[in-house]
Amino acid sequence: MKTLEWPKFIIKWGQLMHKITVVGAGYVGLVTGACLAEFGMKVACIDKNTAKINGLKKGKIPIYEPGLEELVEKHYYHKRLNFTTNIKNAVEESEVIFIAVDTPTKEDGGVDLSSVFQVAEDIAKYINGNKIIINKSTVPVGTAQKVKQTISDILLKKNINITFDVVANPEFLREGSAVNDFLKPDRIVLGVESKSAEKVMREVYGVLDGHGIPFIVTNLETAEMIKYAANAFLAIKITFINEVANLCEKVGADVKIVAAGMGMDHRISPEFLQPGPGYGGSCFPKDTKALAKTGRDNNVPLTLVEQTITANEVQKQRMIEKIYSNMGNLKGKTIGVLGITYKPETDDMREAPSLVILEGLVQKGASIKVYDPAGEKEGQWRFNHIKNNVVFCSNEYDAIKEADAILILTDWSQFKHMNLDYIKDQLRGNYFFDFRNMFDRKAMEAKGFQYYGVGR
Ligand code: UGA
Repeated sequence: MKTLEWPKFIIKWGQLMHKITVVGAGYVGLVTGACLAEFGMKVACIDKNTAKINGLKKGKIPIYEPGLEELVEKHYYHKRLNFTTNIKNAVEESEVIFIAVDTPTKEDGGVDLSSVFQVAEDIAKYINGNKIIINKSTVPVGTAQKVKQTISDILLKKNINITFDVVANPEFLREGSAVNDFLKPDRIVLGVESKSAEKVMREVYGVLDGHGIPFIVTNLETAEMIKYAANAFLAIKITFINEVANLCEKVGADVKIVAAGMGMDHRISPEFLQPGPGYGGSCFPKDTKALAKTGRDNNVPLTLVEQTITANEVQKQRMIEKIYSNMGNLKGKTIGVLGITYKPETDDMREAPSLVILEGLVQKGASIKVYDPAGEKEGQWRFNHIKNNVVFCSNEYDAIKEADAILILTDWSQFKHMNLDYIKDQLRGNYFFDFRNMFDRKAMEAKGFQYYGVGR
């Protein structure tokens, strides 16, 4: 764990310790709370879900995130991190309040901000002195201003004269490496409206300031836009390489080498140029839709983003077609699926390509055997509607035993080290669909597999 590297700084900055409340003990809130405690702050994580809070107090972490459990345990033990359901006390006792609640997608692609405004109202209800209120949740441009207005209106109605600041401080955490991303970010983005708010925020992130991490200090709207533009750009980049991969297949090019050749141009970079079955997760699908809607609402259509959303859905369908067109009739065939989470090192299946692909394969008559190192619990209920055709297995070898084909949908590194000779022996057929390009075509063909990657 790299989280223990800065004890000297923690002691130094601990002297400047701020009392912080993080509202929302979900994925972002919990990582934020635990990491701010690591920075030397005194943090209360609050959530209305009593069972979750009680579980956290007993060291039960509701999500799978490498490094988080150790951090929570350490700081809970040292009383730097606490968990509560009492928002009144939490607001009263802290000067800095992070809002990190859920912002689900609405049917029209917009963002449901009801939880964010509920927290704003709660803060206004219990505010007892100057506070800095920070939006960490991913929210459309203009939300920080609306949060400010919501609180001001309530205070005005109650004739309360208390000053407060609203700050937009988006997160850039990737699931699976969120702790490390928080502790060692590429940049800190601060949308602020006063020098005093900037000063406190610089103290909160003081350890990073001390480590030379760049701070972008700007207005609220720009900070909010940076988050959406960054996620949409990455989604476009993945979609671009997915489409190039599809073309590579037709013209005899190898997308892996194409991506490597492109990535060596430092203006392009090799990151996020791995083709696959389509991007998933709770962020790219949601944020691209929200940004596209903001564009439509402002009469500035973001055509590239709109097209990316469509192309990503098409990519998942192409994967089904690729299996079907090569294997033929899938009735009575068994496919051993390795990986169902939207990416490795997480148990999260939100918008995972596996949701669409497995359903499509079952519709075409296939039976599925699944193994995922972390996804079974979520997979059990997400595939409940096709449960008669989906069996969960306890390891990769069980999942492929007597199957007609192997299908890799998530690039868990343990799959890279599978005993391929044994697998070949155990399989009934010899189809190998590697939709994360984990293996080398020639080596796989030499072992007797009919190998299909993406774009090669
Ligand atoms: C993403 C961003 O990377 C974070 O910076 C951001 O903070 C986060 O969303 C968020 O908004 O909270 P995350 O969704 O955790 O993080 O996952 P990524 O690692 O970005 O992967 C997203 C999807 O893209 C996955 O399905 C992954 O398999 C796919 N992907 C990624 C590719 O298909 N190819 C690539 O080259 C990279």
